[in-house]
Amino acid sequence: MKRIGVLTSGGDSPGMNAAVRAVVRQAIYQGIEVYGVYQGYNGLINGNIKKLELGSVGDIIHRGGTMLYTARCEEFKTKEGQQKGIEQLKKHGIEGLVVIGGDGSYRGAKALTELGYPCVGVPGTIDNDIPGTEYTIGFDTALNTVIDAIDKIRDTATSHERTFIVEVMGRNAGDLALWAGLAGGAETILIPEDNHDMEDIASRLKKGQERGKKHSIIIVAEGVMSGNEFAAKLKEATNLETRVSVLGHIQRGGSPTASDRVLASRLGSHAVDLLAEGRGGRAVGIEKNQLVDYDIIEALAKEHVLDLNMYKLSKELSI
Ligand code: F6P
Repeated sequence: MKRIGVLTSGGDSPGMNAAVRAVVRQAIYQGIEVYGVYQGYNGLINGNIKKLELGSVGDIIHRGGTMLYTARCEEFKTKEGQQKGIEQLKKHGIEGLVVIGGDGSYRGAKALTELGYPCVGVPGTIDNDIPGTEYTIGFDTALNTVIDAIDKIRDTATSHERTFIVEVMGRNAGDLALWAGLAGGAETILIPEDNHDMEDIASRLKKGQERGKKHSIIIVAEGVMSGNEFAAKLKEATNLETRVSVLGHIQRGGSPTASDRVLASRLGSHAVDLLAEGRGGRAVGIEKNQLVDYDIIEALAKEHVLDLNMYKLSKELSI
């Protein structure tokens, strides 16, 4: 390929910039021109496409967000929208596209692949819910943001001897909640992958209080219910007064951790290698610290699996 494109789509995640940088630099290193598609699939449909040079991606490796901007695009879910996108790519002489994003972005890349256009998906989302990779770009940074918040909440929870409920993002996946709960020493973690038992939660809280525990932290993944909803249910079951903290979009911002920058650099470069070899229709990932790639259609047919052993461990350690 002589010319490729790159776009970021869906919810942004810290490290997307590092991935864009890797795509641009790796492509130019291999003698391939790169065009940036701005504003995700919206920009693709509207032809918001500009050439990127080595310097276009200077000074972004440490920045959160995405220099290419992003969007959620309803029109691209339609065949007409996808055709318009392909026409724009052809008009600009772009022979292959790297799509950095989460589930919805992958579905767009899959649609383009099915229409015969070579695409490679790079997993970028704080949710860590993409099949075919153990980690997604942005998950580690978001996790550290949540941990920072929990540590702070713990201070005030201890001072006031309170129970706090912390609602974290993750869409339908419990990864962020589980990892944050384990790393933050939460007493209870509610994830969508498991049914919670209010009686068990109440009895754990009671046992903690009996042995002199002054505070508790409960993490609720947004895929289960909202923190406020859970607080109301807990109040009904135990009459316990709580405070709720909804971390929200803070989890999506901030400078990417070293781990996310390295992951983004490796995955972005691998995506370019695949296109350079003429291997479109792939999704890249990391497994056992090795780069992998899968047929994007097969990858999306798989389900992301949360590590239930880790969930079991979190319960064992929070007795
Ligand atoms: O997919 C990333 C994510 O932050 C999810 O965790 C969350 O459910 C969703 O995006 C929020 O989307 P929006 O920014 O459109 O409100």
